[in-house]
Formats: sequence, structure tokens, C-alpha cells
Amino acid sequence: MSQLEDAITPHERAAAAGAARKADRPLRIAIFGFGTVGSSVARILVESKPDGLELTHVFNRGVARKRVDWAPCGVMWSEDADAVLNSGADVVVELVGGLDPAGAWVRRALENGKSVVTANKKLIAFHGVELERLAAARGGHLKYGAAVAGGIPVIPGLEQGLAGDRIERIEGILNGTCNFILSRMEAGAEYAEVLAEAQKRGYAEADPTEDVGGFDARAKLAILMRLALRVQVDPEEIIPKAITAVTAVDFSYARDLGSTIRQVARANRREGRLAATVGPMLVDRRSPLAWSQGTENMVIASGRYGGDVVFSGHGAGGHPTAVAVVSDLLALAHGSRRVEIPSSPARVGGEFEVPHFIRFLVKDRPGIVAAITGALAAEQINIRAILQKPGYPADGLPFVVTVEPCKSSALKRALEPVRAMDCMLAEPLDLQMLE
Ligand SMILES: NC(=O)c1ccc[n+]([C@@H]2O[C@H](COP(=O)([O-])OP(=O)(O)OC[C@H]3O[C@@H](n4cnc5c(N)ncnc54)[C@H](OP(=O)(O)O)[C@@H]3O)[C@@H](O)[C@H]2O)c1
Repeated sequence: MSQLEDAITPHERAAAAGAARKADRPLRIAIFGFGTVGSSVARILVESKPDGLELTHVFNRGVARKRVDWAPCGVMWSEDADAVLNSGADVVVELVGGLDPAGAWVRRALENGKSVVTANKKLIAFHGVELERLAAARGGHLKYGAAVAGGIPVIPGLEQGLAGDRIERIEGILNGTCNFILSRMEAGAEYAEVLAEAQKRGYAEADPTEDVGGFDARAKLAILMRLALRVQVDPEEIIPKAITAVTAVDFSYARDLGSTIRQVARANRREGRLAATVGPMLVDRRSPLAWSQGTENMVIASGRYGGDVVFSGHGAGGHPTAVAVVSDLLALAHGSRRVEIPSSPARVGGEFEVPHFIRFLVKDRPGIVAAITGALAAEQINIRAILQKPGYPADGLPFVVTVEPCKSSALKRALEPVRAMDCMLAEPLDLQMLE
């Protein structure tokens, strides 16, 4: 890299990257973060030599332990972020993750006129709009096709293939860890043992809160809402529900109802009101969402004109995610511009009008069902079915009430006095039913 190249302005650099494309010079790629995804991206760049891309820099802390013998000898390995940000690399591929310091590096790269490709959902969910504006102002591009559903091209699908529709609803399984846990529980295992297995296999972190608490999925949902529903929402306004309260008993009752349980992220716009939520939900076995097993992800986009479109595949893992990153790089190298999808800031609520499955765990005594039906009736909520399987002890009796579509807020009010009943051994588990 010449000193002259390192001294050019952001606009000159962006122009140089454009010229590189025109003159058939490969785009020079700097990978930030040589972990699971970063090393897979390098592997693809080195092994399959995609047209127009050249790996030139790898940045990581303690980089000496990261060096691999299969990378070309011209690659510069560095633990100095500034040196790489000021180098002649055209594109920074940010695969460190988290808001900081990754966000600061992405900003600096864009300010320097470089383009950025990232798989960082948190950064894009919280700062995507601002970073896209910065990229546009400095002549670069920001692409994040791997930030939602890893290797499944949901983001390019929404940006390109479905840009002509008006998407009104989006539902998806966006977290592979939760899907692994719940699809194993469907086969009879209990939560704690499957979580331990997921941690052993590297699917779940030592602290799994981000995944099982729904925080990871809500960041991804916020990104999808911007592209699909064209609204910029604060991810923290989406209230997630953890999957931790789901038990084997719930799967058994779900089975009797022709359903299973999955962590679903859903958002829709009805009568001008925007609603979004993430949590365990009852999914009809005939729904494509019920077919996803293990760490698979799935997204269903429902358009006003085109109807339902289903995306499914591997939502995580080094190689599948790296494919999405390299595809973004190829789009940059070949000068393909994304369709500008306008979006505007919006507030999001959690009010859905859907049927619910509510599981109670009680110490049995007369009058419990009457009290529950009375509380539901007081909020004009109609009961669909009451299910009680035989074989459970009276001092730990699980039973289920399903209700006709009702507002989430009305159900919450109805359950307040029920929760306080002295016979309740656990918080009632309230799951939305997807039909
Ligand atoms: N893995 C997946 O399946 C997947 C799927 C979709 C999206 N993503 C996203 O892809 C990104 C990367 O994920 P990953 O799974 O590849 O993570 P990872 O394996 O933990 O890799 C992160 C890399 O960044 C390095 N790093 C972390 N903090 C650093 C710092 N302060 N300074 C310098 N280097 C630092 C780490 O170095 P050390 O080795 O020293 O820790 C590691 O090599 C994340 O945004 C993630 O959300 C991942």
C-alpha cells in the first residue's frame, strides 16, 4: 500500500473504489474480527476467489494467534485498528459484534469513504439509519445482509425482490438457539437439559439471556420492520418474553391442539397501528414455522399484493453467515445498488388481537375454573376450550384454557386477579396462538 494511497480524502477514496470497479481492480477487503464468521469469510475469499474481491487486511486483537497458513502471504495481519482504517482497503467487513468498539470502527470507516459490510444486528437495529446516512454522505455503502437470519437472504429479498409490494405483516423464527431448544423440547426434553446441550455444542452462550430472553430476536425484528413495514422503531419498545417458562407439559397440551411451540418474532400494521412482539407462541403444525427444526430460521413476509413469501434455511453458523457477507461484497464489487426503501420513525406497541393459550399450574381446590372464567368474562373474553389431562397430582395440576381472539391488554387485565389466587403455583403461561 503506498503512502499516497493512505493520504487521500474520503471522497477520493470512495471515488477510487468506484474506479476500482470500473477498471476491474478487485475491491480490497479488510476483515475486522477473525472469529467464527470472519474466518469463514476469509476462507471463502481465499478458496473460491470470487470475482472482484481481494482479501488484503485482517484486524483482530492478539492477532498473532489468529494467523492461518492458508491465507495469501500478501494479507496484512494487524492489531492496530487505526492503521487498517487508514489503509487503502476499500471495504471494511465488521465481524467483531456488539455496539462498542465495533460501532466506532464502522463510523470511522464510513467517514473515511470506505464501504462497510457487517453482520452486526445490534449495531444495525440501534444505529442503522444514522450509519446509512453517513455512508451516503461520504460516498460509501453500508450492507448488512447477514445481520438477520444469517445465511438466508431475507434482507436482500426484502430490499430487492419484495420492494414492489407493501408488506403488512412479518413473522419469523429469528433465533437459532431458541429454535434448537424448543424443537428439542418438542421431542420430550426439558428446558434445562437442552440448554446445557446447546451450550456444549456452542449454540448458546454461557449467559444465554440475550437469546432465550428474546433480545437478539427483537433487534432482528426491528431491522426487518424497517425494510418490510418501512418504519424506524426503537428496538427497546418491543417487549420480549423469555422462553424459559415453557415446560414439557406445554408441548404436550400444544400437541393435543395440533400445534407446537416456537419463539416467534412478529410485527404488523393494522388500522394504522403498529404492533410487534417476540416470545414463545403456539404454532399450528400446518404452518411453515412449525417445520423449522434445530438452529434453522424462517421468515414469512405477507404482502398486500404478492401474498405470503417464505424464507428459510440456516440462520447461523460461520459458513452460512459468511455466504451472506460475501454476497454483499460481490454486490459492492459489481456496483449493484440497493433499492432505497423509505422509512419513517414510528412508535410501536404490543397490542395484538389474537387467540391465546394460557397454561395454569395450581394446587387443586373447588372454584378455580369458575374464578378464571369469571375473570375472562369480565373482560368480554370468550373461552374456546378448557383442557385438563389426567395423571397429574392435585398438588401440582397443570391445565390449559384457550380463548378466542382478544386484545393483549384485555387478557392482561383479566389475568391480574387470577395471578393473585392462592392456589396458583406458578405464573400463568400466556402464549399467543398463530393461526
Ligand atoms: N456466528 C454466527 O452464527 C453469526 C450469525 C449471524 C450474525 N453473526 C454476527 O457476526 C458477528 C461476528 O460473530 P462471530 O460469531 O464470528 O463472533 P466471534 O466468533 O466471537 O468473533 C469475533 C471476533 O472479533 C474479535 N474481537 C472481539 N472484540 C474485539 C476487540 N475489542 N478488538 C479486536 N478484536 C475483537 C474476537 O477476538 P477474540 O478471539 O480475541 O475474542 C473474535 O476473533 C457478530 O456481530 C454476530 O452477531 C454471527
